[in-house]
Amino acid sequence: MHNDIAQILVSEQEIKEICVKLGKQLTKDYQNKNPLLVGLLKGCMPFMADLSRQIDLKFEMAYMSVSSYHGGIASSGDVKIKMDLDISIKGRDVLIVEDIVDTANTIVTIIELFKHRGAASVKMVTLLDKPDGRLREYQPEYVGREIPKAFVVGYGLDYNELYRNLPYVGVLKPEIYNQK
Ligand code: XMP
Ligand code: MG
Repeated sequence: MHNDIAQILVSEQEIKEICVKLGKQLTKDYQNKNPLLVGLLKGCMPFMADLSRQIDLKFEMAYMSVSSYHGGIASSGDVKIKMDLDISIKGRDVLIVEDIVDTANTIVTIIELFKHRGAASVKMVTLLDKPDGRLREYQPEYVGREIPKAFVVGYGLDYNELYRNLPYVGVLKPEIYNQK
């Protein structure tokens, strides 16, 4: 375990099992559709790579970069598009791929935008869900695992751009973000 991690919350093995399970479910639910997976960078990267290889369908993948954090560990509530999609989503069955849902400010904003752009359907799959963090009412269609309201890093999730490469999801030692 990395020295800055206090506790592993979701192990490498559990993440694998989550990807297999969600992949099977999505394969079934999108059987006669041609979904467009939209990953929200950068946190979606490992999850989208592993999950997509468990989905046995023909589908496209696209990416978008949005931000509601400006460093640190609290959402600012103000969602900015840093890099937009390079394709039209009009008439498409969009499946948004996220690392985590917390306040739901990000996902609710993006869903409204995608509906406005004419998507046929907009659903989301998230590796983690922190339901206790909600500021907007929202329930993701596909959830890997619910976790308590703690700041987590690893498997795409960062603290000031670090720790995204950890193969598990863990809780950072408090002294790491109390340093500054
Ligand atoms: P909201 O609050 O809009 O948050 O639902 C979604 C985005 O916030 C980030 N986030 C986290 N990032 N550890 C992180 O590294 C966390 O515990 C955490 N909680 C929320 C994340 O980028 C997510 O896409
Ligand atoms: Mg994110």
